[in-house]
Amino acid sequence: MPVKPKTSNSPESVGSHRNPREVHQVSQWEVFKNRKRILRNPLPFHQEKFGEYGNTFIVRIGPRKRIVFTREPSTVRNILQKNHRNYKKSELQTRDLAKYIGHGILTSEGDFWRKHRKMIQPAFHKEQLQGLLDLMYSAIREELSGLPEDQIIDIFPKMSDLAFQVVAQSLFRAGDFREDMNRLQEITEDNQRMLIREMRQPYLKWWFQLSGRIGHHLGLSQEARNILDELIEDRMQSEKRRGDLLDMLLDARYEDGSPMPRRQLIDELIILFTAGHETTANALSFAVFLIASHPRVQQRLYEEVRQVDFEGDKLKALRNLGYAQQCIEEAMRLFPPVYVIDRVSVNPETLQGHSFPGGTTWLLSIYELHRSPDLWDNPEAFIPERFEPALRKKYSGFYFPFGAGPRMCIGNVFAMNEMMLTIGWLIQNYRITTPADVLEINPLISLKPGKVPLRLEMR
Ligand code: HEM
Repeated sequence: MPVKPKTSNSPESVGSHRNPREVHQVSQWEVFKNRKRILRNPLPFHQEKFGEYGNTFIVRIGPRKRIVFTREPSTVRNILQKNHRNYKKSELQTRDLAKYIGHGILTSEGDFWRKHRKMIQPAFHKEQLQGLLDLMYSAIREELSGLPEDQIIDIFPKMSDLAFQVVAQSLFRAGDFREDMNRLQEITEDNQRMLIREMRQPYLKWWFQLSGRIGHHLGLSQEARNILDELIEDRMQSEKRRGDLLDMLLDARYEDGSPMPRRQLIDELIILFTAGHETTANALSFAVFLIASHPRVQQRLYEEVRQVDFEGDKLKALRNLGYAQQCIEEAMRLFPPVYVIDRVSVNPETLQGHSFPGGTTWLLSIYELHRSPDLWDNPEAFIPERFEPALRKKYSGFYFPFGAGPRMCIGNVFAMNEMMLTIGWLIQNYRITTPADVLEINPLISLKPGKVPLRLEMR
């Protein structure tokens, strides 16, 4: 039911007397009634409300707590790009996530964030990443070789291992650290599961504290830090340059010429593991599933990749993987791993003709933006042809799998390289099929697939 806006200092004041239009509100009661399905998967509920109320609506989640949901492209661009200085990340990232993974560029704000982003960014430049392509490819080959054939396997855990190993190898080139990395992966994933429990059951927070669960997971974070500390120490002792991401981070300097303190370096490394592995594993799993369930797409892709020499010049290989890139882009349109981006405003701002007070929490639904019938033809269909190079520009205002503005993903080129090499190699070597018609999705911190059943047949 549409709610007549008030002029108080709350998001309800949208459309105040200066502004007669209304933003619809979803009541707390409605949220409560739907709590079970929202907990299971909130996306159908969001879709329903966008369908009923249009591109922006308010959800009341407590007597004084409201979240503004939007899939309105110019509002999303305003918050992430044009007026980004007026928007901060929510405490979910800067406090709850930071508790486990530290204060690095993903979880910090303001000058602290700016100074570290500037310092780390050069390591992720396209030209710089070229030096890592051989390394990335060998990690991918190693992970994909020996996949069981002619039986149904769940490809998601395999993609998780692959994505973790690719980040690990790129950070610490060719070190003998498999055991350490396996432990780091276990800790990263274990702590993520705990964070999700804390988010989903906030009313049990006291129990998590009292029972020592939070303490246990903070202990795991410390163990991860110790592992990384030792790896850094070994590198510094050896004085050998390896040309990997760790070398670049060790060489990076603040404006005054000083290096990053060890503690900060460790936080940034943990963040690169966390931000870089799960998102990529999800995107790869969705892409593989979609390709497996679209034989015509797979055939076109095979025609492309059969010509590609993956063992030779990797940059040349990537240049010849245009259709693979389109398949990945289309997969991330339908299943963006970062399916919502949250921000909290600092000062009031008028958007879409409504005045929103400072302190308003916004949830930018990338998932809905990527499926909005106002923006996309046949939005639910998997059509990689929409990302033909000549058409790509058309979507730049409302296609944001890597976010937008100054906080856009630092690892976007890294991730695209990795995904193109993975998909390219896989389809060159295997014909893939799936017995599943639809994929179960699991929207947690990122949009994850459930099981991704796949059959591989050697070509
Ligand atoms: C398919 C893979 C990936 C997707 C879809 C993805 C998506 C995103 C998105 C949407 C953001 C912005 C979040 C926001 O504005 O709140 C982000 C930030 C970030 N990503 Fe990625 N990412 C991917 C892979 C990677 C990789 C491989 C790395 C590093 C190895 C990485 C590192 C980061 C970091 C450090 C940030 C924080 C940047 C900042 O706040 O300045 N990501 N990512």
